[in-house]
Amino acid sequence: MTVERINGGNGEKMIDPFGRHVSYLRVSVTDRCDFRCVYCMSENMTFLPKKDLLTLEELDRLCSAFVAKGVRKLRITGGEPLVRKNIMWLFEALSRHLKSGALDELTLTTNGSQMPRFAEQLAACGVKRVNISLDTLVPEKFKEITRWGNFDQVMAGIDAAQEAGLHVKINAVALKGVNEDEYDDMIRWAHGRGMDMTLIEAMPMGEIDGDRTDQYLPLSVVRARLMDSWTLQDIAYKTGGPARYVEVMETGGKIGFITPMTHNFCESCNRVRLTCTGTLYMCLGQDDAADLRAPLRASADDALLSEAIDEAISRKPKGHDFIIDRRTSKPAVTRHMSVTGG
Ligand code: GTP
Ligand code: 5AD
Ligand code: SF4
Repeated sequence: MTVERINGGNGEKMIDPFGRHVSYLRVSVTDRCDFRCVYCMSENMTFLPKKDLLTLEELDRLCSAFVAKGVRKLRITGGEPLVRKNIMWLFEALSRHLKSGALDELTLTTNGSQMPRFAEQLAACGVKRVNISLDTLVPEKFKEITRWGNFDQVMAGIDAAQEAGLHVKINAVALKGVNEDEYDDMIRWAHGRGMDMTLIEAMPMGEIDGDRTDQYLPLSVVRARLMDSWTLQDIAYKTGGPARYVEVMETGGKIGFITPMTHNFCESCNRVRLTCTGTLYMCLGQDDAADLRAPLRASADDALLSEAIDEAISRKPKGHDFIIDRRTSKPAVTRHMSVTGG
C-alpha cells in the first residue's frame, strides 16, 4: 500500500481492506437524549454511567488524532449532542482544525431542542450546516413519535439556526402509517424556507417497544409516490454522507434519500463512528468494534492510539446486512442508534 502523507499531519491516510478512504468521522458525545423517539429508543432506557464517558479533552484528542490521519469531515452526534454538559468547549476546540485547513467540515446532527441556546455559538465555531431531525409537522403526531419532545421548541430551534446563518437540512425517518401522508407538505415547507430535506429508511437497531415491521416504509415506494406531485431530477450533488439527492424542479430545493434497506450504499462508505466511551465502530450495522480508550489513556503521545486506529481500519467490514421482516424479530445489531449517532 502506498504511504500518503497529509498536509501537515504526521499520519498516513486511512485506507480500508476494500480500498475505501476513511475521511468522515462521526462522534457520539453522549448516548443520552431529551427525546424518546419510538423508532430509536424504548421509553425506559438505561444509559451509560456518567463515569464511563470520555472527558471533552479526551474526545478532542481522539478527534484530532483522526484529523491527523486524514479525516476531513467531523460530525458530532448523540443521543442528543447538545445535552452534553459544556459541549461548546468541544466545538470551540475542534474549530482550530477548520482554521488550519485540516478539516473541511465540522457539523452536527441534532433534534433541535437546544438550538435556541447554541445556534449563535455553533456558527461562531465555524459550523456552516446542521441536520435537524423532524419527522412530522403535526404537533400531536410529533408528541407521539418523540414521546418527550416539544414541537414548538424544535421550531424555535430551526428558526434560531437559520437566524444564526446556519444551513439547515431536515432529516425525516419514513414511518409507515405515521408520516407517509405528509412528505408533500414537508417538502413544500422545508424548501419554502430554503432547507433541503432527507428521507431515511428505518433501520433495525436496538430493541424498541414496538415492532419495526409495522414502521418500515421502503423509500422506493415513497419516491414513486412523490413523482405524482413533483418533477424529480437526479443530480450529482454529494455531501460526503450516504444520501442520494434529487432536485425538485418546482421548488428548486433538494431531497435526499438514505436507503440502507432498499439500496445498499456501503461500497462507497467513507466513515467510522466513535462513541462517547471511546469505542470505534467501523460499520453502523455490525457489532465489531475497537477500544480506543485504553491506548488513549496508556500514553500521552498518540503513537499507540494511531496504531490502534490503523488496526481497527484494517478490520472495517464490507457493509451491513439489515433486514426487517416478520421472520426476523431481532434487531440486526443490539445497540441503539443513540449509541453511535446514526
Ligand atoms: P450529510 O453530511 O448532510 O450528508 O449528513 P449524513 O447523512 O452523513 O448524516 P446524518 O447524521 O444526517 O445521518 C442521516 C442518516 O443517515 C442517519 O439516520 C444515519 O443513521 C444514516 N447513516 C449515515 N451513515 C450511514 C451508514 O454508513 N450506514 C447506514 N446504514 N446509515 C447511515
Ligand atoms: N433508523 C433510521 N433512522 C434512525 N434515526 C434514529 N434511529 C433510527 C433508526 N432506527 C435517525 C434520527 C436522526 C438520525 C441521526 O438518525 O431520526 O435523524
Ligand atoms: Fe433522541 Fe435522535 Fe433518538 Fe429521537 S432519534 S430519541 S432525538 S437520539
